[in-house]
Amino acid sequence: MCGIVGILGRGPVVGQLVASLKRLEYRGYDSAGLATLEGLHIKLRRAEGKLRNLEERLRYCPPEGHAGIGHTRWATHGKPTESNAHPHATENVAVVHNGIIENFRELRAELERDGANFRSETDTEVVAHLVESYLKNGYSPQDAVQASLPRLRGAFALAFLFKGHDDLLIGTRKGSPLAIGHGNGEVYLGSDAIALAPLTDTITYLEDGDWAVLTRAICVIYGADGSVVQRETSKPGVSSLLVDKENYRHFMAKEIHEQPTVACKTLAHYLDRSGERVALPLTLPFNFSSIQRISITACGTANYAGHIAKYWFERLARLPVEIDVASEFRYREAPLRRGDLAIVISQSGETADTLAALRYAKSQGLHTISVVNVSTSTIARESESVLPTLAGPEIGVASTKAFICQLMVLAVLAVAAGKERGKLLEIHESNLVRELIEVPRLIAAALLIEPQIEKLAGDIADSRDVLYLGRGTSAPLALEGALKLKEISYIHSEGYAAGELKHGPIALIDEAVPVVMIAPYDELFEKTVSNMQEVAARGGKIVLITDAKGALEATLDTLMTIVLPEMVANFAPMVYAIPLQLLAYHAALVRGADVDQPRNLAKSVTVE
Ligand code: F6R
Repeated sequence: MCGIVGILGRGPVVGQLVASLKRLEYRGYDSAGLATLEGLHIKLRRAEGKLRNLEERLRYCPPEGHAGIGHTRWATHGKPTESNAHPHATENVAVVHNGIIENFRELRAELERDGANFRSETDTEVVAHLVESYLKNGYSPQDAVQASLPRLRGAFALAFLFKGHDDLLIGTRKGSPLAIGHGNGEVYLGSDAIALAPLTDTITYLEDGDWAVLTRAICVIYGADGSVVQRETSKPGVSSLLVDKENYRHFMAKEIHEQPTVACKTLAHYLDRSGERVALPLTLPFNFSSIQRISITACGTANYAGHIAKYWFERLARLPVEIDVASEFRYREAPLRRGDLAIVISQSGETADTLAALRYAKSQGLHTISVVNVSTSTIARESESVLPTLAGPEIGVASTKAFICQLMVLAVLAVAAGKERGKLLEIHESNLVRELIEVPRLIAAALLIEPQIEKLAGDIADSRDVLYLGRGTSAPLALEGALKLKEISYIHSEGYAAGELKHGPIALIDEAVPVVMIAPYDELFEKTVSNMQEVAARGGKIVLITDAKGALEATLDTLMTIVLPEMVANFAPMVYAIPLQLLAYHAALVRGADVDQPRNLAKSVTVE
């Protein structure tokens, strides 16, 4: 979390810093700030809350410095106040930080004993004081940073600006991402390529432990041992135009409506459409017949995509799957079999826990596949094989189009596995491929129910709790629906496998509780209808999401029945996700919540 940027420019950099921070705001928006060199002195400008508060402050007296660093914060240590906003500065150095300095308490005590005067509650401020202590002892900026780094424990990306050094930035990373951008007589640091997209498309990614000394003319990168290292420079091709709301009110709305297009684009990357065959874009370094078990790890929405994929791998490829939330997987020391397969799923490709899970799986000798949306991310770079989701930049904090594309890639992979393991004949493969090809059109058809969902959102927006229930692949989808609603509308919601209802959650049901039943007309439909009866008997308000056949057969009174297009049930979650996303979006609108930047959240979770 937190976005950082640094610029050595040819003219005043404040406009560029703010523009980059805008593109990084998805990483956190509790406060924002920047430091520039005015004359020889470090000047700080910081504001609590969203970036627009900082922009307001800068409007009347914008700094004019040609060198600067900036930050957008997701608070970890200390409240989201102005004094805790980054950059943190001492007399001679200013620093911005993404990550957590785990040993900040002991460092702070030591530095305070030596006379340092702390002004914030953050872990980051120790870094400024630590570097300052070396500068005061006559170290050069470069030596001061080099001496400080081994004393910091935790995960961090840092960018430093020094008093009196108008042609110097130092950046370093360990655990959190940091990239160098190369411009025409200018140089940049940024948390990712998207932040730097309007400035440059020429990017060097630092590796863990690297620290880089930048001037406008030369960039030197050092490894953790202090020796000079060479890192590849690439052109990731992140178009600045892609990060735009176009005519939509929110990124989330735009991203929901992009789903037919991005699902189609992702699918095209993985299929031979005319031959009705799965065609992975790379040769995997193993055969699925030699795999005994797949271990899937991910967080949040990506984790629910993994849960749905578990049904597909087990059903289509008869391949057992274990699925964990990444934050638990890494600590439970799961026994894994060398040569098996680990799949990690991540939109950002930077989620700290998912990255740690990937590293653990690699250390145990597993093959690793990452299903990621940001192909330049750390997770993509560290996995053995990368299967990209081609959703394009997802800016709304609530994941929508990335989820659908993750499902698409996982569905294709499950078919490929089934085929390679001899569990699917060619005829099955082509049937499944035909079903997949239909999905983008069905998503587009599902989007047409938006006016109905808008009305439903008005009906449920005042609810205290909402329950989501489903069976089979609709069970993890129920979890996803509940997550979507709670994270952007702040209505308490829970998802359950419908069969679990009577083991506890049924106690919650009364006339005030809407219950969203996700019930495609499949072999489990009748059982789900029984659960609906149980809800109805207790006065719960049923919202039934089904198709025409299901609507006809479920002869119960509902608050609303949402009829989706008929489809073969295998890949229904990609279509049934649409009303759930729309419901969350419209409920948040009714409640006046900040849809794209819900409170307390950030798009990219780079702390554990
Ligand atoms: C919810 C949401 C989060 C992310 C989770 C993992 O809408 O977006 O739950 O899915 O933080 O993030 P990635 O996919 O970037 O690893």
